[in-house]
Amino acid sequence: MIATGVVACPPMGQAEAITLDEMYHPGGADAVNRALNRSYHPRSHGLVFEIVDDLDIGPADVVLDIGGRYAAHSLAMVEMFGCRAVCVDPVDSNNERARTAVAEHPAGSRVSIRRGVMEDIPGSDGEFDLIFSHDMFFHVVDADRALAEGHRVLKPGGHLLVYQLFATDLLEPGERARLYADVAVVPERMEPDDFERRASKAGFTIEMIDIVGSEFREASEEDGTNLTSRQLLYAARLLRESTALRAELGESEYRVELGNALWGVYQMIGKLEPRIYLLRKPTAPNA
Ligand SMILES: C[S@@+](CC[C@H](N)C(=O)[O-])C[C@H]1O[C@@H](n2cnc3c(N)ncnc32)[C@H](O)[C@@H]1O
Repeated sequence: MIATGVVACPPMGQAEAITLDEMYHPGGADAVNRALNRSYHPRSHGLVFEIVDDLDIGPADVVLDIGGRYAAHSLAMVEMFGCRAVCVDPVDSNNERARTAVAEHPAGSRVSIRRGVMEDIPGSDGEFDLIFSHDMFFHVVDADRALAEGHRVLKPGGHLLVYQLFATDLLEPGERARLYADVAVVPERMEPDDFERRASKAGFTIEMIDIVGSEFREASEEDGTNLTSRQLLYAARLLRESTALRAELGESEYRVELGNALWGVYQMIGKLEPRIYLLRKPTAPNA
């Protein structure tokens, strides 16, 4: 198993208090400006597709995009790799929108949409070369069943790529409880040790763990796409105007929007930690 990426999460709030002289030392501002206004070269989200590319996914292969929502990643993969993709999602409105996106896309004929959940995958044994599980496993209620199903529908030697956020020790118990409830997350799914144990039990080999941390968020903040700073502003507005916005949006929409905003912000400050797992179904039992 190879662990890449950076695991640098310094403990917060444990150091001795700094002095006033240290706090207000002259001449520090320039050094700070230089240090903090340079990029530390975060990897961008394209890394996920580089990993798929490294698996040599091509025209002969079929990818299962589990929890694929609007089929955006299915369409990206068929376009990039010439493969076919099956996008599975349990939410009817997601599948309707996915069908429209597929119908309008030049490579859409290579994507099919099926309704279902990972715990009961609508696919035959050994149908897929790769399962792409992107930002969805935290919703899975029965992880053992979902992983067993993933194992069943993969070809021997096939891969399950899981991009998923996990909680770190910096996420306080009260924050956890509120966040998980607001974005329909199953608490056990947020624990990496639990995930690794269940993946191994299901018969997968863990080939790679890449701790992405804040990198994708930093990269998109730096290139001006998908700004977490915008989500921070939304969180501030939602919290300060809580009563008015609850009334305007309705309680559940209010909670989802606050949860989504914090979901982004917490990744930036190390309370949530995105990781990529590459799991492999061995070619022979116990291989
Ligand atoms: C945060 S969205 C991610 C969508 C897409 N994979 C992406 O990364 O943009 C999570 C998706 O997982 C789907 N989902 C929830 N529970 C699921 C389950 N048990 N099996 C499969 N998909 C599920 C949801 O309907 C939703 O579309």
